[in-house]
Order: sequence, then C-alpha cells, then structure tokens
Amino acid sequence: MLKGFRGQLFDFADNDSTDNTVAKHRYYADGLLLVEAGKVVAAGDYGALASQAANAEIMDYGTCLIMPGFVDAHVHSVQTKAIASYGKELLDWLESYVFPAETLFEQPEYARIHTRFFLEQLLKNGTTTAAVFSSVHAAAAEALFEEALKLNMCIIGGNTWMDRNAPEELCQSAESSYELSEQLIEKYHNYQRLHFAVTPRYAITSSPDSLQLAAQLFASRHDLYLQTHISENLKEIETVHHHYPNHHNYLDVYDNFGLLSSRTLLGHGIHLTEKELKRVADSKTKVVHCPSSNLFLGSGLLGFYRMQRHGIELAMGSDVGAGTSFSMLQTLQDAYKVSALKGEPLSAMDAFYAITLGGAKALQLDALIGNFDKGKEADFVVIDLSKDELIDYRTRDTSLEELLFALMTLGDDRVIKATYLMGERWTYYD
Ligand code: GUN
Ligand code: ZN
Repeated sequence: MLKGFRGQLFDFADNDSTDNTVAKHRYYADGLLLVEAGKVVAAGDYGALASQAANAEIMDYGTCLIMPGFVDAHVHSVQTKAIASYGKELLDWLESYVFPAETLFEQPEYARIHTRFFLEQLLKNGTTTAAVFSSVHAAAAEALFEEALKLNMCIIGGNTWMDRNAPEELCQSAESSYELSEQLIEKYHNYQRLHFAVTPRYAITSSPDSLQLAAQLFASRHDLYLQTHISENLKEIETVHHHYPNHHNYLDVYDNFGLLSSRTLLGHGIHLTEKELKRVADSKTKVVHCPSSNLFLGSGLLGFYRMQRHGIELAMGSDVGAGTSFSMLQTLQDAYKVSALKGEPLSAMDAFYAITLGGAKALQLDALIGNFDKGKEADFVVIDLSKDELIDYRTRDTSLEELLFALMTLGDDRVIKATYLMGERWTYYD
C-alpha cells in the first residue's frame, strides 16, 4: 500500500563530492513523502507529486516538520538508571554509579524490561538509529537485539568487553567475551536491521590480550563495527599511559592492535592531539562527539570544526548515562554551546546534518538511511513546533535556518509528535 505523509519536508542531499562536510539541504514548505513497503518511493513538493500520490493513503501533518529519524552514534543501554547522578568526574563516576547499574543486567528479565525502556526513550525522542554499548553480560546484549528486533529499529550494538580494572562481577575473560561476541554475530549481525560492533569498553578495562582478541574478531569479517572510548578525561589518559607505557599515545594503543578503520567509532576524543587526529583522519576512523556528557562530567570541550578541518567524519552521541538527555536536539544544543566556547559556533545546518545523513554516513549506513532518497528505509520524525508555546512563538515567520536553530536550542521530546520506523508509526503499545 502506498502511503503519503504531507508536511514541511526537510533533509540533506547526498553529496557526490568527496567533501562530506558540506551539507546540502532540501526543503519543501508543502512537501510529500511517499512510502511503500517501508521504503521511500518519492519525496518532494506536494503539488508536483500529486499524480504519483493519486492512490496513496495520505496522512496530513499540516505545518509539522518531517525529517529523517535521528542518529545517536554513542549511547549505553545499561546506564539509564545512572543518568543524572550527582558529582564526580569520569573514573569515579564509573565506579560509583555506572558499574553498579550495569551489574543488574546479568538478570535476563531485568535486562529485557530496562532495555525496552531505553529503546522507547530513544524513539520518544525521535532517534531511530543508534550505536549502543550494552554490558559484559549475555542477557544485556540479547535484550538489546531482541527488543530492537521487535521494534524494528536499526541498531548497531555489542557486548562490552572488560577484563580488568572493574568490579569482579563485571570482568570477563577476553576469551569468554570473544565467544559471546561470536555467538551474537552469528545470531544477529545483519539480521533485519541489526548490526554488530566489537565493543572493548576502553584501554583501561582492556588487557593487551583482550585488545588483541577484539582485533582478531574485528578482522574476521569486513562488515563488523568496532566501538570504544578514547581521550575523554585527563586522568583517564594518564591511566592509559600507566597501563600501556610503551605506546606513543592513547590512539596508538588502539592503532597498534589494529582497531582503527572506517568502521571504527571512537567516543569522545576531546583531548586527542594534532598528531593523533591526523592518524584518525588517515585511517578514516570516526569520532562521536558527546557534548552533553562532556559537559556533565566536566571532561572538556571538543571543537566540532577542528575535527572537520582534519577531514574526520563526526557523528553525535547522547552518551546516556553520562549525557543528560536522550534528545538529539538537546545534544545539539550542548554541541552549540561547547562550540561557542571554542570560538566557532556550530551552524544549525551542520548540526542537523550530523544527526541525520552525516551520522548515517559516519556509521556507514547511508545506503539504507539518513535522508529521503528513493529506496531508503523510511525512518522519520514528525516535529510539531506548536507543541510548546515558546518554541511556537519563536519559530513563527522565521527563516528555515532560524527555525532549525531555535528547534535545536529549545526543542526536546515535547515537539516530537510521531516517530516512524520503515513507514510504520511507533507507539508505546506495539
Ligand atoms: N569511558 C569508559 N566507559 C565509559 C562510559 O560508560 N561512559 C563514558 N562517558 N565514558 C566511558
Ligand atoms: Zn560512552
């Protein structure tokens, strides 16, 4: 059945040039998105598509904004209980709040209920694709993939590897993490909308043997992802030097084991040096900017445009539980504030690109999602600016750029009227 969604349509065109940093937007004040069997059939001006839409069932969203679903490229499915936990910087915060929260995910029923809640928080906020860290437990990773499958979400995920410097009940031998990852790959990787990421937490909780095994698994197939954390916090970096004294720098630890690639996602990267950034760019490794988290833990300020100048593809991450909101709009608000403090304020177009097509490209998923090109999976959000008095007031009779900037500065889940996954509206009760 052909379905049409009418409203203000907004997305970014794919860029044929090699310069992925130039965002080319498309906007139709009275637009129509045509969807069949979960895929985009056409998108454009309502009038121009009228004949093609003759047999379509039309959902008229009036003046609502329809845009591609948001991409959250770094988030933890096992830390929702730790969100908004007072005080302490990264290493203490992990010990005091995060590790205890993750321990509970050993239990399958607990893992299922809390993972479901987590995924619904993403959807409620308009996030349709996410790269997700679970815990070391089989139950947490199973719950992530099984619940995402039921919801039909596009998820990159993996069991988190830790074999040292964490509570005993959260440490697993590298061999058993490897085995669990292998089983999960077999069962879920490239099944429906699921993808697997080898997920060593970071260098502090990974022994050299474990990074070696993670690299071996990552190299065993060309289509896996690898996700980890890097250079978020100065004490973290010092601790890495202590554990890996023979490596030139933090990045060099991952590089030496063969973990850098175009399918590698490095969370944070705030304190990477120029030399490290050059190597990130040369290896086509992706950086995921987590501004809300970085402000909350006082980790530091990452320069969005500094990364761009290095030619590094950047995606955005909420990084909940260190991030304080599941909303990618709120994440953009924080990205703007951080970039303003760095003296190079983030533009609304670059910001929305990063959470739609840019994010999809960084995750190597742009053949499937990220904009309204024909044949793409129809994941989208419907944004109702009139849902909030102030946003409505501020965005009336403004330019598109002004409207988008006000949306990312003032918006959150309140303005998300509907979230669609492959042309089907998500509701809590599916
Ligand atoms: N570094 C290692 N683990 C984590 C985590 O769970 N959250 C954040 N923000 N940084 C980390
Ligand atoms: Zn993280």
